[in-house]
Amino acid sequence: MPPMLGMLSTQRWSEQGLALLQLLLVASFSKSEERVCSLMGEQEEPQLFKTGDIIFGGIFSFHSSWTNMKSTYVHRPLPLQCTSLNFRAFQFAQSMLFAIEEINNSTEILPGITLGYKMYDVSHFATCACLSDKIKYPSFLRTIPSDYYQSRALAQMVKHFGWTWVGAIRSNDDYGNNGMAIFKDTATQLGICLEYSLPFVRTDPPEQKQKIIETIKGSTSKVIIAFLNHMDMEVLIEEFAHHNLKGHQWVGTEGWISDSQIAIAKGNYILEGSIGLAIRKAHVTGLREFMLDVKPLNSSGNKLFTEFWETAFGCTYFSL
Ligand SMILES: *[C@@H]1O[C@H](CO)[C@@H](O)[C@H](O)[C@H]1NC(C)=O
Ligand SMILES: *[C@@H]1O[C@H](CO)[C@@H](O)[C@H](O)[C@H]1NC(C)=O
Ligand SMILES: *[C@@H]1O[C@H](CO)[C@@H](O)[C@H](O)[C@H]1NC(C)=O
Repeated sequence: MPPMLGMLSTQRWSEQGLALLQLLLVASFSKSEERVCSLMGEQEEPQLFKTGDIIFGGIFSFHSSWTNMKSTYVHRPLPLQCTSLNFRAFQFAQSMLFAIEEINNSTEILPGITLGYKMYDVSHFATCACLSDKIKYPSFLRTIPSDYYQSRALAQMVKHFGWTWVGAIRSNDDYGNNGMAIFKDTATQLGICLEYSLPFVRTDPPEQKQKIIETIKGSTSKVIIAFLNHMDMEVLIEEFAHHNLKGHQWVGTEGWISDSQIAIAKGNYILEGSIGLAIRKAHVTGLREFMLDVKPLNSSGNKLFTEFWETAFGCTYFSL
């Protein structure tokens, strides 16, 4: 799931960096003559923004919830008010910032070109194999392997432990549905049988949640493959805890298995002994220091900084 890098626009480029940039530029120059797209509605404000000759776009799940607002259906609805800042997503964004600044600061990579960024809050399912389709998503650049590999690896892992009778719950979106479809294909080939495969989204009505609980209570398999993003997972485990439904072996995707907020979430005991696949750990010199130094985010006037501060310290931020 983690961060996705894609180029949104190019404003200027120089001869020197051309070879390196070729890959990025394909996106904005192909087919742009015939079709002119115009934005419907209003432009969304990025959470973090800096201008430059080349602007990198990033999409992160900064928030996992929102304020329900009553609509009068008389005026245009107000923009969505997102709440519950996710520190992991915040760190993903900081890692992207770090990479952009490193290149921007370097005199060897792309000399004479300044880099900027626009980082948005929508959702990000960058492991989705669907994004490998260069015709549909020409400006998408991968930063981590596709679920084409993760799904197959999960099936191999399940097989390795000899679990041939399993159930599955998936986020009811491209991430969960596509990921689970690949898992199912591989699992079938390996002789693993799926007792059930249930779609779930955190906004599902209580009946859908009840249906999942009842299916699992009535099932005989003890292993649950959870192809879910961390936001759906958080709601789901609370539901499991509410029914004290424990004793299952959970198998998870990178979407939640290494999420520290999931590890401390209410009802986390449900997940005891979970296993899954995570992104390989790497040491990047200077990244830790960069992440801990959040002051530059403040000086560039980003509202996200204030929110980070308030969430981290449980207080209201005043700038005198
Ligand atoms: C990139 O470098 C220029 C100066 O060369 C600076 O003005 C700009 O803020 C830098 N951008 C980022 C994203 O660090
Ligand atoms: C880039 O340079 C600026 C200005 O010198 C510095 O504050 C920043 O930490 C540098 N960023 C990285 C990632 O090295
Ligand atoms: C954030 O910026 C404000 C205004 O520039 C300043 O007063 C405040 O000290 C800064 N806070 C931190 C933690 O850097």
